Amino acid sequence: MPQKPISAVIVGAGHRAIIYAKLALQKPELLKIVGVADPDPIRREKTREMFGFPEENCFEDASALAAVPKIADAVINGTMDQQHVETAIPLLQKGYDMLLEKPFATNEAEMRRLVDCVRKNGNKVMICHVLRYTPFYLSIKERVAAGEIGDIINIQMNEHVSYHHLSTSYVRGKWANSDVCHTTMLLAKCCHDIDLMMWMMAETRPVTVCSFGSKFQFKPENAPKEAGTRCLVDCPLVETCRYSAKRLYLDQPERWAFYIWDKLEGIEHPTEQDRIQLLKGDSNYGRCIYKCNNNVVDHQSVLVNFESGATGTHNMVGGASKSERRIHIIGTLGEIYGDFEESKFYVSKIHPTKTDEKIVEEVDLHVTGDMVGAYGGHGGGDERLAEDFVNFLQGGETSLACTSIFDSVAGHLCVYLADRSREQNGMPQEVIL
Ligand SMILES: NC(=O)c1ccc[n+]([C@@H]2O[C@H](COP(=O)([O-])OP(=O)(O)OC[C@H]3O[C@@H](n4cnc5c(N)ncnc54)[C@H](O)[C@@H]3O)[C@@H](O)[C@H]2O)c1
Repeated sequence: MPQKPISAVIVGAGHRAIIYAKLALQKPELLKIVGVADPDPIRREKTREMFGFPEENCFEDASALAAVPKIADAVINGTMDQQHVETAIPLLQKGYDMLLEKPFATNEAEMRRLVDCVRKNGNKVMICHVLRYTPFYLSIKERVAAGEIGDIINIQMNEHVSYHHLSTSYVRGKWANSDVCHTTMLLAKCCHDIDLMMWMMAETRPVTVCSFGSKFQFKPENAPKEAGTRCLVDCPLVETCRYSAKRLYLDQPERWAFYIWDKLEGIEHPTEQDRIQLLKGDSNYGRCIYKCNNNVVDHQSVLVNFESGATGTHNMVGGASKSERRIHIIGTLGEIYGDFEESKFYVSKIHPTKTDEKIVEEVDLHVTGDMVGAYGGHGGGDERLAEDFVNFLQGGETSLACTSIFDSVAGHLCVYLADRSREQNGMPQEVIL
């Protein structure tokens, strides 16, 4: 007997929640969106139009939804990082299951409060670790879980954040100042990577973490002396600075458009003049890159010691010429290494009989360039995750990638501790799960 679709309310109808909710348009037999809660009236109305539910199912915020009797099986919570816990708890207490964006909490105390609430109420809560669902990481995980490279001795992970992404999100944008967004760069950007490390190392558990990092590049003392304060208003370097708002945003208006132009959402077809006015006005994205009141690091290295005696490293470096994620796992029987952007990895094994030889297998998942788009966001991870959430709720067979809130604790905790270590100049931190 086919099951009824899972019904869900979108809480925080921003960029992320809508991506997952679109499963309801593609596969209505799996998911039905029946309401929205968001303080932004434009987003509420757009969401209502997109999914066609009645006006009375539009709520001004998460607490207004929590104040009425339950109207759906689940909530898709796509609010911002610092709102996850405060918006989630009343809804979980009301009995909603939840798809919750990462980072699911911004510090250890909040994390424990939320996890305790889920345990007490028995809700099903899945965290949006979309990279687990990409063909690249999922295939590597399958090889590791099958024991192909033996016991893991060491795992090395690198993430290079492009100059464009760094400047847009972590210098000018929403995650630039931890006093405002309550997240560090490691938490916002790399809680995925540390989660992947924990997932690959699932046979053991982390025991100690340490970390170093700093804000290297964008600070007022590094600004050229003739630099102004707003690129399009008072800066003579507007045509030549690699980071000028003109070059990054006006000349490439599609890149990260949902962040840079979000204040133009109410205009159906914004013109270049609208964009210029926005950048000249009070938009954060029009500021000189060196004068943004940003306080998060732009590079950080993390070292994890595991109970088995294995070790792991993650190096995040912002400001690279292109985005890149690499992984290299070394086990007792061989190794796996690859590049996420190329969607290709190698399995290299010590030859069982011949000395001085190895067996190398190339695994090309053919998800590169335009194909990444064809597979959807995050190499297709976003779509597969939404489908797996439905399976998770319906009690069907979930994928190896499925991340309940309990599965996500080790990764989040390691991130909080890595940041504490960084603040204490690399002091090792004990991981108490
Ligand atoms: N999984 C990933 O790979 C990934 C990628 C990018 C962002 N994220 C995370 O997704 C989350 C959402 O990011 P976004 O860019 O979509 O944010 P967004 O700002 O576009 O959307 C957040 C929405 O929440 C609404 N909101 C604010 N307070 C609310 C309340 N009390 N009740 C209900 N709604 C409320 C806002 O009006 C806004 O529409 C963040 O936590 C972010 O870190 C995850």
